[in-house]
Amino acid sequence: MALRRILHYPEPLLKEKSVAVTEFNDELRQLATDMAETMYAAPGVGLAAPQVGELKRMVVIDCSDSEEPNDLIVAVNPEIIASEGDSLEEEGCLSVPGFCANVKRAETVTLRYQDVEGNTHERTANGLLGICMQHELDHLEGILFVDRLSPLKRSLFRKKYMKMLKEREQQNEA
Ligand code: NI
Repeated sequence: MALRRILHYPEPLLKEKSVAVTEFNDELRQLATDMAETMYAAPGVGLAAPQVGELKRMVVIDCSDSEEPNDLIVAVNPEIIASEGDSLEEEGCLSVPGFCANVKRAETVTLRYQDVEGNTHERTANGLLGICMQHELDHLEGILFVDRLSPLKRSLFRKKYMKMLKEREQQNEA
């Protein structure tokens, strides 16, 4: 088991499309274990393989709160096969530290995915879990939640974020 380094915006790899998983082997299972460990350590509620530098269609999600038992979903080759309604909720991302914004999503989604053994599952979710599914699947297409903001909000985000990065660099140099 190992923690993986999480890539941060504006890392170019985060803009790339991930490739379907065809081999359900030990390497895939190891990556899933590492991703779950990295997500819990962050802590976060979801992590997609490209965020740790692997362009594979796999995400890990756990939206249970600390009072509830773990509800880890490891979704390989996930697809949203149905969606309904609208929601507008605040999102953040482990690859965009220190920034949150409201994002438009579907309210309820049904996810079809394979587990690390290749078995197919379906799960319908709304609320935080439904949003998280949509957010993590976007990562597999090279889309970050900030890409879903209006052009004005996106450009404000970029300015603010790049300024923050610069300030951090200067602090590190000092
Ligand atoms: Ni994210």
